Amino acid sequence: MSILNKDLLKKSELGQVWTPSDIALEMAVGCLKLNPTPENIIDPASGPGTFTKAFYEAGVLKANFHCIDVDHRMKDATSSVIKKLGLKGCAQLGDYLKETTLKGKFDTLIMNPPYIRQENIPIDDKRFYHSFLQHELGGKVARRANLFALFLLKGIVDLSPGGILCAIVYDAISQTRYGQETLKLLERHAELISQKHVKTPFNHVLVDAQILFFKKRQRPLEETSKSEAYEDGLVFLNELLNVRRGTGLPSRKVFLAGEEDLYYDEALPFLVKQSTLSSLLIKPDQRAYLLKDMPNNNSSKAEFWLKQKASVQEINLTKTAISGIRGPISFNYYIRDAARHLFNPENIAVSDNFYVSIPKDDFPSEAAWLLLNSSVYLDMIVSAARNQGNGLSKLQLYEYNQVRLPDWRKLPKEQIGFLVDAAKNLILTEATYEKVRNTSDEIVKDLF
Ligand SMILES: C[S@@+](CC[C@H](N)C(=O)[O-])C[C@H]1O[C@@H](n2cnc3c(N)ncnc32)[C@H](O)[C@@H]1O
Repeated sequence: MSILNKDLLKKSELGQVWTPSDIALEMAVGCLKLNPTPENIIDPASGPGTFTKAFYEAGVLKANFHCIDVDHRMKDATSSVIKKLGLKGCAQLGDYLKETTLKGKFDTLIMNPPYIRQENIPIDDKRFYHSFLQHELGGKVARRANLFALFLLKGIVDLSPGGILCAIVYDAISQTRYGQETLKLLERHAELISQKHVKTPFNHVLVDAQILFFKKRQRPLEETSKSEAYEDGLVFLNELLNVRRGTGLPSRKVFLAGEEDLYYDEALPFLVKQSTLSSLLIKPDQRAYLLKDMPNNNSSKAEFWLKQKASVQEINLTKTAISGIRGPISFNYYIRDAARHLFNPENIAVSDNFYVSIPKDDFPSEAAWLLLNSSVYLDMIVSAARNQGNGLSKLQLYEYNQVRLPDWRKLPKEQIGFLVDAAKNLILTEATYEKVRNTSDEIVKDLF
């Protein structure tokens, strides 16, 4: 059924991007799995009524719908959806973040919140949103939070305990500091049930997204403050390491080099996947066209050729000049059994299957690598991962960053020197996973 969508011109300044109907349906069905008989559903950024239609298609006929949009055309469109489908409820014109009378009123909240950069939020509005949310949630709201992050926080306020929040949001939620801070605050108030990556779901918008499901807790969790973490001698991983996701190639088909390619020799060594699981050293398994890292005169010819390669394969490249992400330590965040940190002796670029780290405060990378492969460190890291089924678990970047670990900066100099020597020896002899882990366990048991 298509009502009105195609007639409504989107206003990008209001973050108007519509959720495809199959994804909206998947989200509605996901809500019903967690709460089969919703009574009060809110869509606080309703657009043309996408989620109301989806719930109707999923068989929800009796719930009361409360829809809000700041754009009167969207409010009218949603009203007419509600009416035409014979559903109960209303569409309201207004700024959802200023609706302070909705606290705890809904058992289900579904949304595709507007993505609006914090610089584009009027300053007075921003002040109001932050102070309201801080007051309601008892925690600091990230200063640079995009509007969609504020919608997530406000959504939790308006749910009753046990209520379900389902949102599709841009990947920025995992890739930015404000995103991580928002998730942290959310998780004090709600349990994260699932987080699914969706590749470029929106028409004409080249960003990946995530579908999040949260269940509001009966009572918020106590805040784990940095000072508490320090009290038991532990610190957050991102105080010890600078972590980035590895190199995201705009298209692996185009950017990975094949031996028959004209410019194969210009491509640089690259790690996509570890080929020998017994080793803990990074060895390139591919070559990739990392144009920004090539000498200038070669890169322009290769770029021209790369664009041709893409067009022959009918791939639309938005970006060609990319550089590789490199660092001494890498971690594959899909964990099957033997979680491990890989050392990168030749400093080659690493794919986005990995988190790539550089130790902070000039702590020697070899020593950090050895400690990170001890059972003490690995067990703490693995216990933060989420089960994906079939023996696989996954650790999001913000979860990795927030693992609490023994603070290696407190070690005396001579012990750090001892760790470096032991690590160098293991690297030189290309020691196996078991050998590295056993050596590390032996040393760590006397250190902390
Ligand atoms: C990303 S669109 C999603 C629309 C629809 N739910 C969908 O998924 O197809 C976000 C909607 O939020 C509306 N919006 C923007 N700022 C708002 C605000 N402060 N309060 C309520 N709605 C807002 C926009 O007009 C837009 O229709």
